[in-house]
Amino acid sequence: MSGDNIQHNIQKARELIAGAANICVLTGAGISQESGVPTFRGEDGLWRQYRAEELATPEAFYKDPKLVWEWYDSRREIISKAKPNPAHYALAELEEKTPAFSLITQNIDGLHRLAGSKNIVEIHGNIWQTRCTLTGVVEENHDVPLKELPPKCAETGELARPNVVWFGEMIPAAVIDQCLNFIESCELMLIIGTSALVQPAASMGVAAKQRGKPVIELNLDPTPNTGFYDISLQGKAGEILPQIV
Ligand code: APR
Repeated sequence: MSGDNIQHNIQKARELIAGAANICVLTGAGISQESGVPTFRGEDGLWRQYRAEELATPEAFYKDPKLVWEWYDSRREIISKAKPNPAHYALAELEEKTPAFSLITQNIDGLHRLAGSKNIVEIHGNIWQTRCTLTGVVEENHDVPLKELPPKCAETGELARPNVVWFGEMIPAAVIDQCLNFIESCELMLIIGTSALVQPAASMGVAAKQRGKPVIELNLDPTPNTGFYDISLQGKAGEILPQIV
């Protein structure tokens, strides 16, 4: 994309955002890439080093909970050193100045909350939470490294699991409904840093378009949905987002 075309699209995006009183944002791993958190499918992607089905599934966990927790412990270590980047702060600022604002994130790193975002739905869970495999009770756990592998639920002493959504697991229906309500009520949708390959997040922008909402995509690379949206900005979120909010 040529320079003046990018500038033209940035200006168009800025105007759309400034004129919207209700904005719904969807983010993926790309928004945390400049904070040093590896994405899943990029050059440095996690799935290039590990096989998702060997680690991020209920079967893998119950076959070898220690191995899966060792992987999450190493990711917690990396994420504990990560700080929000200008893209995270730009969204927190946008939320402050927009009458209605919702943030749907696929990220489990907690960086949006650290940057000051408030109305967040973490549809894939949160790496700083554990969930009791017996009772489902969720506990915050920020120990780096974890004190024991695998960790146990403080209340029941039973095996605890990461409070994240694995491949083959469903996102709770209430969470999906909340996302659909955000999409239904927004005037504009902003989709940042996601490869649009994993459902249901990959269909949320399409759902917004089907409801007549303009959609702006900001991503380092083109995605399967790129041609479908009103504006697609190709570049780094940390560089472009501060220019459009
Ligand atoms: N700025 C903007 N976009 C970026 C940047 C950046 N600095 N760096 C990378 N990207 C883009 C890449 O081009 C890629 O399209 O971010 C996207 C990241 O895609 P994925 O690694 O597939 O991450 P994501 O879309 O969030 O994956 C969805 O898949 O494995 C599951 O649960 C996991 O939540 C994750 C889900």
